[in-house]
Amino acid sequence: MARKFFVGGNFKMNGTKESIKSIVKGLNEAQLDSNVEVVIAPPSLYLQLAQDQLSKANVEVSAQNVYDKPNGAYTGEISVAQLKDSGIKWTILGHSERRTILGESDEVVASKTKAALDGGLSVVWCCGESLEEREGGNTIAVIEKQLAALAAKISGDEWKKIVVAYEPIWAIGTGKVATVQQAQEVHAAIRKFLRANVSEAVADETRILYGGSVNGKNCKDLAKEADIDGFLVGGASLKPEFVEIINSNL
Ligand code: G3P
Repeated sequence: MARKFFVGGNFKMNGTKESIKSIVKGLNEAQLDSNVEVVIAPPSLYLQLAQDQLSKANVEVSAQNVYDKPNGAYTGEISVAQLKDSGIKWTILGHSERRTILGESDEVVASKTKAALDGGLSVVWCCGESLEEREGGNTIAVIEKQLAALAAKISGDEWKKIVVAYEPIWAIGTGKVATVQQAQEVHAAIRKFLRANVSEAVADETRILYGGSVNGKNCKDLAKEADIDGFLVGGASLKPEFVEIINSNL
């Protein structure tokens, strides 16, 4: 089964009501490749706004994070049920900024992913190595450890609702994109892990995105690689060139 190309826009902690309306308007008016699934992730305060303004069928809205408890005294957190109640169908989880700045462990990310899936959300689940880990030759081991924590919590069928995003930390927001070979090598290793530890079907069907300084210029070459099934875009998702990235295969 061919994997549908997927492009996510992670706005991170950027934007205002006006700028988000303008990004969504741009997407509504653009000619987007209809074979691409697009998900935009504004800050939680603006999820509803983005959702209300969107008129394109193949563009959906995602949270950037969700908590793994159903409700209660968790100041500042948002539950899976609250996202569902607001019509949000996706969340990003395990972004390296949450892992490194906010201290989320592999296990916390796996637990949140399980809670999101149990509650009916789809998940863009992120992994990636630091520069030190890459230079120490530990890239694949780091990714496999992150994947193993997830695989321990998730059963075969649940993988259908997960999109994996490989985001080398040293490439995020630095303008230093991984080479196509570096990205393809890790994507192939992720697929190999899924084949060995989950199933053939999950390995063949799971979309693996690349994230880290993707822009309108470098996206086309990356998109040609066999195991790169799309992108998770930060900075460039706030700009008109996001459309070029969505249309990388045209
Ligand atoms: O989640 C997207 C991301 O971390 C990449 O950010 O700004 O390098 O495209 P950026």
